[in-house]
Amino acid sequence: MRRVGVGLLVAAMLLAAVGVVSAAEPIRIGVLGKSVHPYWDVVRNGTMAAAALFPDVEVTFFVPQTEDIGRQIDVMESWIAQGFDGISVAPSDPAALAPVIRRALEAGIHVITNDTDAPGTGRLLYLGTGNYNAGFAAGKAMAELLGGSGEVAILTGSLTALNSLERIQGFRDALRGTGIRIVEPVLNDNEDTFRATDLATTAILNNPGLRGIFGVYAASTTGAAEAVRSTRTQDRVVVVGFDTLDSHLEALENGYLDAVVGQKQYFMGYNSVVLLYLMAKTGRDNVLSLLPRTEDGDIFVDTGVDVVTRDNLHAYVQELDRLGIPHAFVPSR
Ligand code: BGC
Repeated sequence: MRRVGVGLLVAAMLLAAVGVVSAAEPIRIGVLGKSVHPYWDVVRNGTMAAAALFPDVEVTFFVPQTEDIGRQIDVMESWIAQGFDGISVAPSDPAALAPVIRRALEAGIHVITNDTDAPGTGRLLYLGTGNYNAGFAAGKAMAELLGGSGEVAILTGSLTALNSLERIQGFRDALRGTGIRIVEPVLNDNEDTFRATDLATTAILNNPGLRGIFGVYAASTTGAAEAVRSTRTQDRVVVVGFDTLDSHLEALENGYLDAVVGQKQYFMGYNSVVLLYLMAKTGRDNVLSLLPRTEDGDIFVDTGVDVVTRDNLHAYVQELDRLGIPHAFVPSR
């Protein structure tokens, strides 16, 4: 699949800077995430950094407390009623949100997806991680860490969001042909870290043969690391998961996590605002025409991932600094 990187967005921004005509009314943009979590704080930071670039934009950022499909629909309805110019949404359930996404588009609002996609809804593009490949990379890391055999559990925060389903599929496919067996069913913490910790702890205690846990979401990974720490099973249970928040990097350094897949969610927020602002100012089709299309004519703005282990932790933190992505974690060794 062909992708477009951050550099192209900068080019688009320059183009817009030339053509920008200041309007009396501010451009109103909404960025809607999935849950209250440090992962989404980073998206919010990127969103607000981009909002500060433009004098005539009003940006609203919202996340429900935990996974909450009904709340996401209500917020979308309210943004449609308020006549927002652009919405970037991370649908917790693409089928359930499809009608409201369509209503927003019919109302002339530019709608894009971030973090997790809703294909087939008419949304203009998807901006985020290539989740199947990222899940596949997690599976490869797990296989390597386990030496190709053992039982692993999968812990996620959603059984409907596409990013979760694609990561799980990628993970399963990467383990095909190895001696690793996935313990069914997939466990669902609904993006609640306490529930994730309980589920991971129970999985470890009830299954003495368990050798690994895949944390599909940031909250799931935190729960798995906490379970391994409190049951003192870090020598038996390998944890591979998303993401690279400060607490994840600390748990990685301390041996409670073994490999983490870092997303660049700062840019999911940042580029949402830049793209939606440019669509409002310079015309939707002008912006879309700058972005390369996939074979099936779709647009995927890939924010990229990194697989981080204790071996490349230092280099990863240096890379965060180079990209100007804020982090509090500093490697101690
Ligand atoms: C996912 C988000 C999720 C977050 C918090 C991330 O890995 O991309 O969709 O909301 O974790 O659990």
